[in-house]
Amino acid sequence: MMKTRLLSPTNDHLDLCAEALQRGELVAIPTETVYGLAANAFNEEACRDIFAVKGRPLGDPLILHLAKDYPVAEIARETDLFTRLRKVFWPGPVTFVLEKTPRIAALLTAGLSSVAIRCPAHPVAKDLLRRCSFPVAAPSANPFGYISPTTAQHVEASLGGKIPYVLDGGSAEVGLESTILDVRDPHKIRILRYGSLDLTTLQEAAGDVSVELPPERAHQDPADHSPREAPGTLWRHYSPSKPLHLFTTRKQLKEILPNSKKYSLLFHTRPSGDFLSAEANAQVTCYWLSENGDQEEMGRNLYACLRTLDASPGEEIWVETIPPGPLSKALNDRLVRAAAK
Ligand code: TXA
Ligand code: MG
Repeated sequence: MMKTRLLSPTNDHLDLCAEALQRGELVAIPTETVYGLAANAFNEEACRDIFAVKGRPLGDPLILHLAKDYPVAEIARETDLFTRLRKVFWPGPVTFVLEKTPRIAALLTAGLSSVAIRCPAHPVAKDLLRRCSFPVAAPSANPFGYISPTTAQHVEASLGGKIPYVLDGGSAEVGLESTILDVRDPHKIRILRYGSLDLTTLQEAAGDVSVELPPERAHQDPADHSPREAPGTLWRHYSPSKPLHLFTTRKQLKEILPNSKKYSLLFHTRPSGDFLSAEANAQVTCYWLSENGDQEEMGRNLYACLRTLDASPGEEIWVETIPPGPLSKALNDRLVRAAAK
């Protein structure tokens, strides 16, 4: 066990974190999506430690984080489409997949010829990356398969004792991992993972270039072992340790919950008094992701809510699926994976 220091984002602490990264140590860092477990991407040993600390399979490639003026050509083959889209979406919660250069070790990309890169918008991440002369590899800072962290305390709870530093940048503003776009083909943008970027905004930025959605079947059939669009996007992910089930209508819920257990219920919006009074019998505890259906609020709250539910007395977690809206694809994607057996 090592001592984990939780650091406020002062100039001195940012220097300390940049130097630790430079030396090959791991630092958990805030981003606007989720917290990342960061290492110097030019230090292969340090990147190997990321996989070890997370318990992450080596077949799951890492995302590289860059300062806005980082010379991308050093690590990836820029395309015109990338150059156009980065002007619109960087800094921000969008990751681009491009062909990599030999500068990037095969370990980071799970042996793929491509590399995923992103320029985060979180002010603390920007400040830190500006102090680094190297790209920073960072997957979400959670043990492999568990719920992603949106606060420094979440990181401390599961990786405390395993890493030297957690840089505290407050609660993540977006709360869902970045949208991943493969922009290698000049005629087609392929969405590899849904995030907070809504499809209308993407299509507007894409202009004449078509947008391809991730194949539905990869999202719906756990028995489907065909190659994944984004390697490492496993069927079961983002999962609490308690059993998690989904329901789609509140009416249905009363019939499907057996009486014998304690439940934690997660609604997308505040439920009516009906459900709240059911709480009185102590069998059910109700939570909700938003007051009035704002999906950005749902995104911000999802992972923290799942952690609260995992720690609550309910033996089972039941979550209401998200109705159509700007973030419903991303939110339901995470929920379906969290519920997977
Ligand atoms: O918002 C985010 O993207 C967060 C923050 C920390 O930046 N990071 C994150 O990393 O979600 P992670 O490791 O949890 O998810 C990275 C995923 C991989 O599982 C894989 O699906 C995809 O990114 N990926 C990485 N490199 C790729 C590549 N070369 N080709 C296709 N997909 C790739
Ligand atoms: Mg992750």
